[in-house]
Amino acid sequence: MINLNTTKVAVIGSGLIGRAWAIVFARSGVEVNIFDQSKDALGECLSLIKALLEDKLKYGLLEEDVSKILSRIHPVHTLELACEGVSLVQENIKETVEAKLALFADLDRICPGTVILASSTSWLPTSLFTEKLPGRARCLVAHPTNPPYLIPLVELSPAPWTSAETVERALEFYTAVKQEPVLVKKEIHGFLLNRVQGAVLNEMLNLYEEGYASSADLDKVMKYGLGLRWSFMGPFETIDLNAPAGVTDYAARYGQTYADVSKTQKDNAWSAQVIKKIENERREILDSNQISERSRWRDNRLMALKKHQDEQPK
Ligand SMILES: NC(=O)c1ccc[n+]([C@@H]2O[C@H](COP(=O)([O-])OP(=O)(O)OC[C@H]3O[C@@H](n4cnc5c(N)ncnc54)[C@H](O)[C@@H]3O)[C@@H](O)[C@H]2O)c1
Repeated sequence: MINLNTTKVAVIGSGLIGRAWAIVFARSGVEVNIFDQSKDALGECLSLIKALLEDKLKYGLLEEDVSKILSRIHPVHTLELACEGVSLVQENIKETVEAKLALFADLDRICPGTVILASSTSWLPTSLFTEKLPGRARCLVAHPTNPPYLIPLVELSPAPWTSAETVERALEFYTAVKQEPVLVKKEIHGFLLNRVQGAVLNEMLNLYEEGYASSADLDKVMKYGLGLRWSFMGPFETIDLNAPAGVTDYAARYGQTYADVSKTQKDNAWSAQVIKKIENERREILDSNQISERSRWRDNRLMALKKHQDEQPK
C-alpha cells in the first residue's frame, strides 16, 4: 500500500496542466517539486494555484486549508532539484516530439531507475519519445483530462517496452490520489478520450456543414440530451439500460440501423471556411472578450457537478 504522506513527486512544466496536477497530488498529502524552464511561469504558479484552491474551497471540495495544501508545493529552479527524492515525475511541457524526446533523455539520466517517468501528452504515444532510452521500461503516458482536480479520468498508455511493474505502480498511485485511471492496452494516437471526442466532433461538423442544424442546436444535443446521461454513465451502460433485456436486446432492435447510419458517416476536413462560420455563430452568442469569464463559469459549473457527484453513492 502506498503511503502518500511520505511520497514526493516532480511536476515538470508549470502551465495549465502542471499546476492542475500539483493540486491533485498536494491535496492528497504528496510533496510536490514543481519546475518550469520559464522563470515567469514558475514565479506565478503558486499564486495561480492558490486562486484555484480558493475556488474549490468555496464549493466544499477541499478537505484541508488552502495554506496546508500550498505548503506541499515547492517551486524549484533546476530539473535536478525537482527530481531529488521523488518516486514519480509528471511531465507537462509543450506538445512536440522534439521537446518530449529531449526532456525524457534528461529525466532518464537524472532519475534513479525506480522513478516512474509519466507524460501528460494529449496525443503522442510513449514509444515516440522513449524508444532509445536505457530506462524506457519505467516510462508511460498518464494523460489527464483538463482540469484533473475536477475531472478524474487519467489514461495510462504504456509503450510495448513499459514494464508491467511500472503500469501496476502507476495504477496504484493515480488511484491513491483519487483519479480514475484507465489502461490503454495498445498504443494508439490520441488514446481513448480524444478519439471519442474527435468522433463526436467530426459528426457534428458534418451535420453542421451539410445544413442539418445550427451550431447552437448541435451543442444542445449534448448539453440537454446525451451529456446528461453521459456525465454519470458511459454509452455502453446507457444502451444496456435502454432495452428491457440489456445490450443484446438493444443491438437486436437498433443495431442494424446504427450499422446503416455508420455507412453514411464520413471524415471531416475541419475546413477553415466551416470553422469561420461556426466562429461567427459563436461570437453572436459570446463576445471574444467574454471567453475567459465564461471559462470561469464553466469551471464553477464543473465544481458544482463534482460536488454533487461526490455526494452520490458509488
Ligand atoms: N491543455 C489541456 O487541456 C491539456 C489536457 C491534457 C493534457 N495536456 C498536455 O499537457 C502538456 C502541457 O500542456 P499545457 O496546456 O499545460 O501547456 P502550457 O503551455 O500551459 O504549459 C507548458 C509549460 O511548459 C513549460 N516548458 C516548456 N518546455 C519546457 C521544458 N523543456 N522544461 C520545463 N518546462 C518547459 C513552459 O514554459 C510552460 O509553462 C501538453 O503535452 C498537453 O498536450 C493538455
